[in-house]
Amino acid sequence: MSAMLVAVDGDLAGPWTQAFRKQPGAIVRAWPDDLGDPREIDIACVWRAPHGLLATLPNLKLIVNLGAGADYLLADASLPDVPIVRAADPDLSMRVTEYAVLHTLRYHRRQPLYNAQQRARIWKVHEQPAASEVNVGVMGLGVIGAEAARVLARIGFKVAGWSASPKIIDGIETFHGAAGLDPFLARTEILICLLPLTPATGGILDGTVFRKLRRDGAAGGAFLINAGRGPLQIDADILAALGDGTLAGATLDVFPEEPLPPSSALWTHPKVTVTPHNAGDILPDILAAQVMRQIARLERGEPLQNLVDRRRGY
Ligand code: NDP
Ligand code: OXD
Repeated sequence: MSAMLVAVDGDLAGPWTQAFRKQPGAIVRAWPDDLGDPREIDIACVWRAPHGLLATLPNLKLIVNLGAGADYLLADASLPDVPIVRAADPDLSMRVTEYAVLHTLRYHRRQPLYNAQQRARIWKVHEQPAASEVNVGVMGLGVIGAEAARVLARIGFKVAGWSASPKIIDGIETFHGAAGLDPFLARTEILICLLPLTPATGGILDGTVFRKLRRDGAAGGAFLINAGRGPLQIDADILAALGDGTLAGATLDVFPEEPLPPSSALWTHPKVTVTPHNAGDILPDILAAQVMRQIARLERGEPLQNLVDRRRGY
């Protein structure tokens, strides 16, 4: 018998297990209570499962990361040497894109200022530039970042993107690699980070990067939106940059420590918007069906989709 393990930490364990149990032909075991005989498990579908668990499954053939970012999984020092696929889905991309668009538009349309005016009962109109005057930059032009860049360009923003390898995307100015970072930052007023967390990207959102952003453009300052991963950002540098005007605002969905500790100054900073890592959601039913198609591909010896490259770390 071959069985599939669903090992999900947190409130979503039940919905994920149910979604896999609905798939025709799936024999599902659920961590931690219903593991059964570990020798029977050949597929493991995981999200923040304890490190070391997968090494106890001797006949594992495939690991499915039930999220887009595989950083937590790859940090498992005992990870078995089998292929890893990750979540990538148009619905997920559009949800994160909504987040990027929402907060870009909020800054572009001066919404924090109008919110403050409302609290003070001030009726005052400020000059409103066109989106076509504002430079938005997307770090990470992958499945999600490329979609966000395209939608922002469709709204009219001047959009550029930065990635590891060269890209050609209609209507988007593209930069890549270490050499492309400075020119990308120099033209960017609203910086949206949709990078994965890897050894190369950890801590990239620091004071040095913030100081290279364009502050004299139509957006009225430099803004940061991070929906990638928390350890990409240095919280102390964000606070310092907000304090001295290097950044005019920051919207953060992710944090080095989650949940964001109550003691963090980010919670109450007037120029910071905090959301609880909810930019994107993956619907278990959609992904479970996708995983079954991946398993069928594996069984037919066909190439897997959305493979994680362990060497690159994403
Ligand atoms: P992809 O793997 O498809 O894309 C990653 C992008 O980052 C690629 O364009 C890649 O470049 C680029 N990149 C990676 N390393 C570097 C580097 N060192 N320098 C420059 N560019 C780099 O990932 P997704 O788009 O699917 O997801 C991105 C991330 O979004 C996830 O890893 C996850 O952390 C986060 N996420 C957050 C969510 C939330 O709720 N906040 C929800 C979903 C995802 P190249 O194309 O050249 O390889
Ligand atoms: C993901 C996430 O990586 O939700 O999918 O953060």
